[in-house]
Amino acid sequence: MYKCALVLAAGQGKRIKSDLPKVLHKVCGKEMLKHVIDSIRSADIDDIDVIIGKGADLVKERIEDKKVSYSLQAEQLGTGHAVKCALEFLKGKKGVVGIFAGDTPLIKQSTIEKLFNEHIENQNSATILSAIVDDPTGYGRIVRGKSNEVLKIVEHKDCNEEELKINEMNSAIYCFDIELLVDALGKINNNNNQGEYYLTDVIEILKSNNKKVGAVITDFEETIGVNSRVQLAQAEEILRNRINLMHMENGVTLIDPKTTYIESDVEIGKDTIIYPNNILEGNTKIGSNCLIYQNSRIVNSVIGEEVDIQASVILDSNIGDNTTVGPFAYIRPETTIGKHARIGDFVEIKKSTIGDGTKVSHLTYIGDAEVGAECNFGCGTVVVNYDGKNKNKTIIGDHSFVGCNANLVSPVTIHDNTYIAAGSTITSEVKEGELAVARAKQRNISGWVEKKGLKK
Ligand code: UD1
Ligand code: CA
Repeated sequence: MYKCALVLAAGQGKRIKSDLPKVLHKVCGKEMLKHVIDSIRSADIDDIDVIIGKGADLVKERIEDKKVSYSLQAEQLGTGHAVKCALEFLKGKKGVVGIFAGDTPLIKQSTIEKLFNEHIENQNSATILSAIVDDPTGYGRIVRGKSNEVLKIVEHKDCNEEELKINEMNSAIYCFDIELLVDALGKINNNNNQGEYYLTDVIEILKSNNKKVGAVITDFEETIGVNSRVQLAQAEEILRNRINLMHMENGVTLIDPKTTYIESDVEIGKDTIIYPNNILEGNTKIGSNCLIYQNSRIVNSVIGEEVDIQASVILDSNIGDNTTVGPFAYIRPETTIGKHARIGDFVEIKKSTIGDGTKVSHLTYIGDAEVGAECNFGCGTVVVNYDGKNKNKTIIGDHSFVGCNANLVSPVTIHDNTYIAAGSTITSEVKEGELAVARAKQRNISGWVEKKGLKK
């Protein structure tokens, strides 16, 4: 049976009170709409059309997905009207269409598969994904008849007193027979409290034509619809727990899952231990047997195996196996640090490569530099990469020893096996085997303190 999907994402989302279209708000670092698209695709449904309207260009740009198609709903007249805007996409198709809302980011692949399977097996015209919830405020209610069959969906704002008591809610996720849906959409109107064309009205229309409608009841947590910032935080908490559980099940120790923030696409190797208050973002990949101590933020970075990181920020960079970072290091984008290296406290590295076994232990800035292997940087070294106009490059060979409080004024090359004397300001090339001293010679003036009357 042919399967496709529509995702409704045209609304601004008034209740979230934002300049950003609601579906672009992120849950665990990923846009809600992207979560929905990814889940649909993971259920092997590849033909996906997204209905956009408010902030349409921005939505396309942020979602950055070349495989989905888009339909435009220029004016947001309701969810039923939104689906009508995708008639061109549905035209000539026979089979099942899954309809999803862009504001239900927690829906799982397994549930989507179950919904499609039950819909097809039962030969339904429509199958609703519903959930039982203690407080259904704001959600559409599933109204059932005497033999428990689904009769219709009534929106919260249109419910009578009896209907308000129903605690089976509509998740806004459904399967429909494509041709029957298209036919029923021609019959919906906007005679309701919100003056909108509701997709939910299609259910009652199908029933009145004696078509079979079913419902699959799932876990409410998966169906949470994010309309407000409060619901956004609820969704975040649920997804964070789910992500953390997945990592623990894969063999990662989280000392305190409640204070561990791991975004959806992060990968972590076995036997890595994550201490409290860490934030792992974007496409970060962490190898096995790492120790990520407290208060680190790691974004879009690849961390090798057996790496120790403590209280540091690492952005868009690579860290090699067996290296230690921090506490209080700042590794800025486009940095590659080799294996068995040491990046210590109050060290900032920007757009540089650092070779294997090199130690940059304290209070140092390295920017726009290529540093070789087995070098040692003394405390307080500064790579002077900026001349007020241009960023210049510094090259440092293998086995170089840079003394404390040295300035390396770029562009400059320091070859293999060199020594830089402490306190030197280096402005020209240092050749292999040389010691470079670039500081004033010490002069002692005897009796000076007494002569000045300062002696105590
Ligand atoms: C909808 C359902 C309700 C269900 C709830 C679950 C209807 C009428 N109601 O209500 O039964 O319990 O979801 O979360 O369908 N959208 C458009 N164009 C529009 C209107 C909405 O694309 O003209 C999109 C929105 O961007 C959003 C989704 O459809 O992603 C749902 O719209 P929303 O206004 O949040 O519907 P609810 O009131 O939550
Ligand atoms: Ca909603």
